[in-house]
Amino acid sequence: MTEQLNKLNVKERIERKYEKLFVNVYNDAETASKKVAGEIAGLIRSKNGEGKKCVLGLATGSSPIGVYAELVRMHKEEGLSFKNVITFNLDEYYPISRDHVQSYWYFMHEHLFNHVDIPEENIHIPDGTIPEERIYEFCQEYETAIKEAGGIDLQILGIGRTGHIGFNEPGSGINSPTRLVTLDSLTIADAAADFYSEENVPKKAITMGVGTILTSRRIILMAWGEKKAAVVKKAVEGPIVDSVPATYLQNHPDTEIVLDKEAAAELVRFKTPWLVREVEWNDKLIRKAVIWLCEKLDKPVLKLTNRHYNDNSLGDLVTKYGSAYDINLKVFNMLQKSITGWPGGKPGADDSQRPERALPYPKRVLVFSPRPDDDMLAMGGTINRLVQQGHEVYVAYQTSGNIAVADDIVLRFLYFSENITKEHLIDTEKIRKELAGKKPGETDTAEVRNLKSLIREAEARAACRFLNIPDGNIRFLRMPFYETGTIKKASLNNEDVRLVVETLREIKPHQIYTAGDLTDPHGTGRKCFDAFVKALQKVKDDQWIDDCRVWLYHGTWKEWSIADVDMAVPLSPEELKRKRAAILRHSSQNQVILPGSDDMEIWRYAIERNHTTAKKYDKLGMAEYEAVELFVEYFI
Ligand code: F6R
Repeated sequence: MTEQLNKLNVKERIERKYEKLFVNVYNDAETASKKVAGEIAGLIRSKNGEGKKCVLGLATGSSPIGVYAELVRMHKEEGLSFKNVITFNLDEYYPISRDHVQSYWYFMHEHLFNHVDIPEENIHIPDGTIPEERIYEFCQEYETAIKEAGGIDLQILGIGRTGHIGFNEPGSGINSPTRLVTLDSLTIADAAADFYSEENVPKKAITMGVGTILTSRRIILMAWGEKKAAVVKKAVEGPIVDSVPATYLQNHPDTEIVLDKEAAAELVRFKTPWLVREVEWNDKLIRKAVIWLCEKLDKPVLKLTNRHYNDNSLGDLVTKYGSAYDINLKVFNMLQKSITGWPGGKPGADDSQRPERALPYPKRVLVFSPRPDDDMLAMGGTINRLVQQGHEVYVAYQTSGNIAVADDIVLRFLYFSENITKEHLIDTEKIRKELAGKKPGETDTAEVRNLKSLIREAEARAACRFLNIPDGNIRFLRMPFYETGTIKKASLNNEDVRLVVETLREIKPHQIYTAGDLTDPHGTGRKCFDAFVKALQKVKDDQWIDDCRVWLYHGTWKEWSIADVDMAVPLSPEELKRKRAAILRHSSQNQVILPGSDDMEIWRYAIERNHTTAKKYDKLGMAEYEAVELFVEYFI
């Protein structure tokens, strides 16, 4: 039990009765990162004041990037000095050279060490280049060096989707020391994007052990985004098990888990707050509770009884609404009203009970798609309906998506262009040589990136053409933040936002669909959404915006929870086939595997998720559809 948990008052303790670690939740990763950086800076300063060294345990990966950025800012603007700081990094891939852009040595220098005044000899990172026979000795020396430095004052951690801390994968022992380990297949799949493909990811790593980590005086574990929510729940609320090494932290006296809202979403006090405190019931919360109850008991809405509510901590709701029958009917009607075959509104119909208004008709509909295939994957069926129901549909592809085009595809297109034109606008021989000499993880030249962008644009046009969207209604924004040539994207800048503003002002849509994907704080979907929100700010006083509604679809790898959905669009078997055919027009992406899945292609997953959603509605006692696409309304 951590010391901080013991300090909570009774009410707070009850609310967190399922939590075995002290958790702090912030609105967003940026605010949380600043808070963590503030604590680190405070520690460095106070140690300095006492004339002592400050020993930090550091992590790599996406989670601590904001912390390092803030520390660098504090060094530059507030004179925070790292002269008295000694660092020990958690881990390093093995084998890997220091100058490999994906090495943790490179990462730490790029994000922190190159920008602060830490003496090079104070930096310790496991060495990915030592010969295998020296590793055991090296690991022992690493442990000794930590002890000789006086032990770690503050250890920063991220958490992997396997529940790993450092690279201590499931099965690691609680007393494990620094050692060579084999990476879990899910960890390799998660790293594949950084290394361009799974084959390039080193299969081993040298990591501090769980035992080493637990000797730190204080530990802060950070996790951001929906993607981490499930494992965070296991780490915080689950029993201590070696299949989730992060649960070992429950044995440590001073560990804090710092989360953003999305990563905290599966914890009992956020997901099912009625189980741990009095809640103010509103329609959305009632719907959430009832769907939770149905799923828990495997019963349709209309078959829930007073007894079911009472036995599952929802007696309060029955008291308020009189009977299970009344609540059931209320939620059944809410679900029923959210299902519509008319996503753009039904002309001539009473729209008071429908998700979208009937007029104006036809509507100008603008679909934003972060990558060139997100539109079809997430809402191909709805796009098909919108076009067929006479709306004027525009699609704006926000980024080029060129990073996801394999070299082999470029070669195919080169072959094609060489053989159909006499005059070559591009130097095909040069490009072929460049691709042949490219090392794993190396960045493409601007010329190759342009070719890859064109490949994706041609595919997106083909998919739109198939669904009868006129060529003139397609915009390619090629937002500059994406064009780094690497998986890591640049920060959003004014030009990114300007491009979205320009598209909005040109089309003046009545309805907007955009990816509301908040899963990965460094991902393309998230940045595209941020650009969209910033663009809305800029156009908020335009006249057209008063008659415009925004609908969010979810990014590819997951779907909205039915409890949060405002519009559900059912698809017939025929419509689903059309959707699949539109997706498959993106031929450069057809073999891309969904990270973390057991070899399932993204397109297959997209179709599967529509089937799964339909089954969920069926189980709730709604009509039985072939497939369903889901949307959440975003209020401007
Ligand atoms: C990194 C490390 C890993 C990461 C974890 C989460 O040094 O040891 O345990 O902290 O894989 O990675 P991100 O932060 O990229 O989600």
